[in-house]
Amino acid sequence: MDKLRIRKAEEADLQDIVRLWKRNIRTINTASDIADLFYPFKKYYLVAVCTDADAGTANNGRFKGRGRERIIGFVGGAIRKGQGHISGIAVDREYRKNGIGNQLLNMVGVEFLTDGFKQITLEARKSNRNAIRFYKKNGYKKSYDIKGYYADGEDAIVYEKKIRI
Ligand SMILES: CC(C)(COP(=O)(O)OP(=O)(O)OC[C@H]1O[C@@H](n2cnc3c(N)ncnc32)[C@H](O)[C@@H]1OP(=O)(O)O)[C@@H](O)C(=O)NCCC(=O)NCCS
Repeated sequence: MDKLRIRKAEEADLQDIVRLWKRNIRTINTASDIADLFYPFKKYYLVAVCTDADAGTANNGRFKGRGRERIIGFVGGAIRKGQGHISGIAVDREYRKNGIGNQLLNMVGVEFLTDGFKQITLEARKSNRNAIRFYKKNGYKKSYDIKGYYADGEDAIVYEKKIRI
């Protein structure tokens, strides 16, 4: 059976993060744009890693190596205007609705809280109803709209969550 864990992202994970970002998020960000977001804020990047428990078993079960790791989700945080900010979050389609997004968002929230931030902000496309449901469920409140925020002209809605105890 597959095992899932969330861990801090490493430099070697960047390619997988770019793949997840481009596959799951409607964006014009290039790999180098994503790298520019990643490197300064690497400590706020987390990945969800799935390990296929059977993949390391060979030779009639006598050899048990490390299972094959697949990165199936990520969250990327940043510091913007002195507050925590979510630059991107995605879970590969076949793994969604299993609470992985919740875990990623909660864990990056703990990082922000530990570093003394009192609020987290993010933007969502007005049309991204699934993400909006997801953020609301996680306690984010609508703050204001930004007209034509995205390159294709769509408006963004800014959401925020207070994390002060
Ligand atoms: C948004 C996203 C990260 C959520 O990840 P996930 O692992 O599926 O989320 P979870 O399983 O933790 O869901 C938590 C809650 O969010 C809500 N939610 C998540 N996906 C939803 C969907 N497709 N429709 C409605 N509500 C949804 C639900 O209320 C869910 O709680 P429930 O299971 O108790 O009903 C994922 O759908 C995704 O990768 N979407 C594409 C990328 C994207 O739009 N990212 C946001 C913009 S950067």
